[in-house]
Amino acid sequence: MADYLLAIDQGTSSSRTVVFDSQAQVLSSAQKEFRQYYPQSGWVEHDAEEIWQSVREVSRDALAGSGLEAADIAALGITNQRETTIVWDRDSGKPVYKAIVWQDRRTAAQCAAMRKDGVEPMVIEKTGLRLDPYFSGTKLTWILDNVPGARQQAEAGKLAFGTIDCFLLWRLTNGRVHATDASNASRTLLFNIHTQQWDADLLKLLRIPASLLPEVKDCAADFGMTDAAAFGMQVPVRAMAGDQQAALVGQAGFTDGMVKSTYGTGCFVITNTGDKALASQNRLLTTVAWRLQGKVTYALEGSIFVAGSAMQWLRDELGIIDSAADSEAIANRCGIVESVHVVPAFVGLGAPYWDADARGAILGLSRGITRDDIVTATVQAVAYQTRDLMRAMAEDGIDPAVIRVDGGMAANNWFLQFLADVIGINVERPQNVESTVLGAALLAGLSCGLYSSLDEVAALWKSDALFSARMDEQQRDQLYAGWLDAVSRVRTVD
Ligand code: G3P
Repeated sequence: MADYLLAIDQGTSSSRTVVFDSQAQVLSSAQKEFRQYYPQSGWVEHDAEEIWQSVREVSRDALAGSGLEAADIAALGITNQRETTIVWDRDSGKPVYKAIVWQDRRTAAQCAAMRKDGVEPMVIEKTGLRLDPYFSGTKLTWILDNVPGARQQAEAGKLAFGTIDCFLLWRLTNGRVHATDASNASRTLLFNIHTQQWDADLLKLLRIPASLLPEVKDCAADFGMTDAAAFGMQVPVRAMAGDQQAALVGQAGFTDGMVKSTYGTGCFVITNTGDKALASQNRLLTTVAWRLQGKVTYALEGSIFVAGSAMQWLRDELGIIDSAADSEAIANRCGIVESVHVVPAFVGLGAPYWDADARGAILGLSRGITRDDIVTATVQAVAYQTRDLMRAMAEDGIDPAVIRVDGGMAANNWFLQFLADVIGINVERPQNVESTVLGAALLAGLSCGLYSSLDEVAALWKSDALFSARMDEQQRDQLYAGWLDAVSRVRTVD
């Protein structure tokens, strides 16, 4: 009987496919980084064709590495970098422009103008999001307004819009299925999270023809069969979810009040709020955690745009570490840095500041400051930003005893101890820190009947280490005050 699961995680920095057995153990995996395009300050693009090729390649390699055949795979789950926007031609399947990445700030002025027009409260009420360039809606408008002929073609029904999940599904099924899931739809700025429908008022506001939009399905659903010629194997696609929501599944965050924080390219703290779409009073986002059998579970989210990508910056742009993993040994020998602050606002600041025009800074430099200080201060900045989010969550009434962490930086013990100390909350790491891809597999397993309930899925979660908050309150507050001062120097709006 086919009882293995294949999961694709199409992230911001790399594409990865993993083969799992029914006990959620990894049989094999393959991963590939792809190119980032920075055509102007604040602009970030991907080549959708390159993404598709990388997904094909890693999926083929992961399956080969497992020694299994496609027939052994019970279901495929897809998870993805969210909000990244692609428009393609329905006949040729070719994108009309590069993928505009979630980090891209090109629509900052458009968002500011709409805010000035007073429409933001309506947008927040319907979508749970804010008028920020982060989300897909204004990126889609930009493509329609700036790619020659795009608007006319869209109005004639010739183009399709999708986030990465949706584009991959289109390619996987050789153009037969144009669908997304409720968690990804909830990040577009076009989807009403209360009615679970594309919203006519929002489409009008952003001048988007409804013909561009995909069908919105549950996260565990029948998304069609992959096309053997297009993908290299024929398997049923049974789940889709945005990567942060999938990570909450991978962390078994199924009960109201559970919190996870994922350290990938960015950092995203998500709290399960059950069937309540909790409206934040502190500039956090309300979003769909998942929709299963038509029932929506909501979440409160804090989004930081730069976390693991700051480690890449140390490695690739500054060239002061050889690999992201080096940061742990460096921080260990350096110890906590008090005088220097790195504010990695490379693409503005996300929650709770929402400052699209802010840019990064290194503050507190003196002649004795070394490479080790800069590296350690960068690691510390990720923890301080998490405290920004936890503070906002606390003001919204979220007060967890522990947060579950995952993603690449969760392998760094020094970081996790500092994190626990700075947020004053215990931090727990699971055995498998790749919760995102695991979550996609688990949803696929639920969808195809390999698991019969969320309780059965939750029983697969295993703790690896608990980091207890042990720093005294005075030091914690003093360090954090230094961070707040540093951030205040780069902010352009209150
Ligand atoms: O909202 C953006 C997020 O989905 C990107 O995730 O893992 O690529 O940092 P990641």
